[in-house]
Amino acid sequence: MDAEKFGYQYYRQVFSKTSKPFAFIDLDLFDANAAALKQRAGNKAIRIASKSIRCQMLMSRLLASDPQFQGVMSFHPEEATYLSRQGFDDILLGYPIYDKRYIRAIAEHVSEGKKIIFMVDDVNQLEQINRVGAALEVELPVCLDIDMSSRYPFLHFGVLRSRLQKTEDVLSIYQAIEKSRYVFLDGIMGYEAQIAGLADNVPGQFLKSQVIRFLKSRSCKEVADRRARIIGALAEHGATPRFINGGGTGSLETTASEDVVTEVAVGSGFFSSALFDHYRQFKHHPAAGFAVEIVRKSSDGIFTCLGGGYVASGQPGKDRLPQPYLPESFQLTTNEAAGEVQTPIIYHGKESLDFGDPVFFRHSKAGELCERFNQLHLVREGKLVGEVPTYRGEGLCFI
Ligand SMILES: Cc1ncc(COP(=O)(O)O)c(C=O)c1O
Repeated sequence: MDAEKFGYQYYRQVFSKTSKPFAFIDLDLFDANAAALKQRAGNKAIRIASKSIRCQMLMSRLLASDPQFQGVMSFHPEEATYLSRQGFDDILLGYPIYDKRYIRAIAEHVSEGKKIIFMVDDVNQLEQINRVGAALEVELPVCLDIDMSSRYPFLHFGVLRSRLQKTEDVLSIYQAIEKSRYVFLDGIMGYEAQIAGLADNVPGQFLKSQVIRFLKSRSCKEVADRRARIIGALAEHGATPRFINGGGTGSLETTASEDVVTEVAVGSGFFSSALFDHYRQFKHHPAAGFAVEIVRKSSDGIFTCLGGGYVASGQPGKDRLPQPYLPESFQLTTNEAAGEVQTPIIYHGKESLDFGDPVFFRHSKAGELCERFNQLHLVREGKLVGEVPTYRGEGLCFI
């Protein structure tokens, strides 16, 4: 990446007439990320994880750009029906739902010929879906979420989600699917969060990064064996799911190398939010950012901006704060960090900053940026080329 081209003066010039705060996508970098992600995914299809984009137009753009992008992984049933109404198809609910109203709304789309797939890991969810299917007389597709975490004696390495851990658990729920008149098995998903979502090359954390790499390499092997074993056992019992989904931005190389996997899920890699900066296997470009305005000069080298406190979800820590981006090498203060209305920054660099100047940050998570802004300004080749609404900008708030 050309540091000069994508530096402070570049963006300052691009946004010289834009009121702050604002969020933006650099399309040159977004497209470069999409190309790199396709390459990393090898010959596997890529399902777009919508939670990490939350902007309908950017997702349509990706899907139209290359047949390797196929389908969406949705994070909420109302989002799934919204996307379906907008013309999207092959929408996999990434997480189980239980509310009958939501199941019914989706079932209505399925009965009209749309492909929206429910996620299940428990017979209780399955029975609920089957009851709705029976009431509407429509067969509903389900995907089994298989636990891909690694369990070590003193460490649960992965997320706490699915209860389907062993081959027997999966076969038993498969039998329940077979006995249910109104559901059928359409896919299998296994999300190895401990590989896909855990940075392993963090500056200043050499030892921790080494340990994580070691755990990851052990877990990768185990995950691949488990997935192959479970898919093999299902096949012996006559199951022929249409797709086998795995992974996320951080695990593309390893997930895509598994023969049984037919598609990978990718979201965060398109924006390449700050939490994805420190992986050993890849480096994507910072395609998304936001800017706040300098409104005070509190003292020498201290500039205070309006807004900025867009903190990310997950385990609290410094890495969940907005990450200082441009001008290079400014810092947040320890006491205030990124504040709800006022964010002081410390800067002694070469740019001369003044009232009204922008200060650029990156959100540590990709999709959450869009919950803070109604639009994303689009930049290409040093010019503003438009703006697109986020979900929030369309009045949509799902979670
Ligand atoms: C089920 C599932 N698959 C895949 C992903 C990967 O998404 P991303 O590429 O944004 O890390 C996630 C993210 O949390 C997920 O929950």
